[in-house]
Amino acid sequence: MARVLTGIQSSGRPHLGNILGAIVPAIELIKENKEESFIFIADLHSLISLKDGEVRKQNTLAVAAAWLAFGLDIEHTTFYRQSRRPEVAELTWYLNCFTPFPMLANAHSFKDKSEKLSDVNAGLFTYPVLMTSDILLYSADLVPVGKDQMQHLEMARDIASTFNRIVGEDILIIPEARIDEVVKTIPGTDGQKMSKSYNNYIDIFLPEKALKANINRIVTDSKGLEEPKDPDTDNVYKLYSLVASTEQTKQMRAKYEAGNYGYGHAKKEFMQLILNKYSEERKAFDYYMSNPEEVEKKLAAGEEKAKAVGAELLEKVRAKLGFK
Ligand code: TYM
Repeated sequence: MARVLTGIQSSGRPHLGNILGAIVPAIELIKENKEESFIFIADLHSLISLKDGEVRKQNTLAVAAAWLAFGLDIEHTTFYRQSRRPEVAELTWYLNCFTPFPMLANAHSFKDKSEKLSDVNAGLFTYPVLMTSDILLYSADLVPVGKDQMQHLEMARDIASTFNRIVGEDILIIPEARIDEVVKTIPGTDGQKMSKSYNNYIDIFLPEKALKANINRIVTDSKGLEEPKDPDTDNVYKLYSLVASTEQTKQMRAKYEAGNYGYGHAKKEFMQLILNKYSEERKAFDYYMSNPEEVEKKLAAGEEKAKAVGAELLEKVRAKLGFK
């Protein structure tokens, strides 16, 4: 039995990369596990890039609604907002003092932005330590994430081992990443990794008209309608195949290779696939978005459950460090 934990930032609305890379695999993993899982909305992390409180509130609701729409079993899950458990900030301070500077300077999340240091806030620099605290505070064993989080998980393991070694007791559980091979990096509309910050995401919860515009942004080459097309280099096909069944994907490949099938047709089919496959989830998402008090209740219950678990670990850490 293992404790599963994962989080999604509320810096934007949840996108297809979050859904296929984290939400769906985590929900599967939770089903296989008997132990209580921990699923949270990383709203503190979102402050690194997003300063507007109203937008954050809406995004936090949207991320929560997405988890619920995909069927998160909240009976066996502690479902909460990161910011509502301030214990995590206390643990972050302790762990900051066990984290070597070069480790953080090496983080991709920091390095990618480091050509212009005046744009980097201290939150971005210490982001991996807050993430480490998220995981260690609740003694998680398994952390289902996309490939982009692999390095942060390695840091969490390093920080936990360093802490345990220095204090001379295995207080912190060393977590393991769980990365699904097929969905580890979902491409965006431009073929790069799908990301809120690259503005290349697909938002499956958009109303039909907006979803159509969203899908139309997928970049293709300029081959004419009649010409056969190479599915392996095309972004529409890649995205389609990640959502479709094996049989549907096989049929789509055949259409590409036969010619007389345009990218416009493929986009239309991709749109239809999303509407069919996620019709229940889209409805449920809209329901939760227009009933925020229901989501609030579920989160508040999770936040209460999380409190005791976090407090127990913190007590041990405080005692070991002479703060008690
Ligand atoms: P975030 O909010 O960027 O992404 C949330 C989850 O979605 C996955 N993901 C993807 N997977 C495949 N393809 C993509 N294009 C793609 N884009 C995003 C991410 O890998 C992640 O699993 N720091 C984290 C949030 C976090 C967290 C944690 C996660 C905070 N504390 C503790 C796990 C444990 C983040 O920014 O993820």
